[in-house]
Amino acid sequence: MMTVQLDKSKHDRHRFDCGIDALNNYLKLMACQQAKKDNTRTFVLEDESCTEHIIGYYTLTMSPIDLATLPARLQKKHHNVSSGGLIARLAVDQRYKNKGYGEWLLIDALRKLLMASETVAFPLIIVDAKDGAELFYQKYGFTAFQDAHSKLFITIADVRASIGPLV
Ligand SMILES: CC(C)(COP(=O)(O)OP(=O)(O)OC[C@H]1O[C@@H](n2cnc3c(N)ncnc32)[C@H](O)[C@@H]1OP(=O)(O)O)[C@@H](O)C(=O)NCCC(=O)NCCS
Repeated sequence: MMTVQLDKSKHDRHRFDCGIDALNNYLKLMACQQAKKDNTRTFVLEDESCTEHIIGYYTLTMSPIDLATLPARLQKKHHNVSSGGLIARLAVDQRYKNKGYGEWLLIDALRKLLMASETVAFPLIIVDAKDGAELFYQKYGFTAFQDAHSKLFITIADVRASIGPLV
């Protein structure tokens, strides 16, 4: 399995339904425009039996970090850092839920951000957990920011340690 960049001439964005309108609409209406402007990148996992069908997607960009909301140990270590990688959205179509695709997409997103950080360094990856998905991210080692439970982070060092060397 591998993700590819969302391609509006190929992928059926209107069929995608993860059960959350904001995430469906982003894919339909915003993702391609935002990519064209170099604001975000959206990657999709295609259904191999019909590659127009999207199993799931995630969107990557960068985000400012409010150092004051990090644990003291990390505030000290990263005191001159202002931004981190952001998994802005991640969703799986309801027809494909509970089959491990969400986990696979999250690991794929972390791997891409880890690779990017080898070129343009940043120490943290942040996620915006929509609709109570905090537990999903906590399961994979993310920690909530002190000021917002729906915003979580993981250090690049922890991602590197769990994913291993990139080939
Ligand atoms: C959250 C979401 C991405 C999970 O995708 P999925 O393909 O159904 O998840 P997986 O099958 O890979 O599940 C992996 C593990 O996470 C757990 N999990 C799945 N969704 C969860 C949730 N919302 N909260 C907590 N744990 C969750 C599963 O039980 C599974 O655990 P297990 O291995 O111990 O059984 C999917 O339900 C979704 O798209 N939800 C709507 C959008 C959303 O909430 N996105 C995330 C925030 S932007």
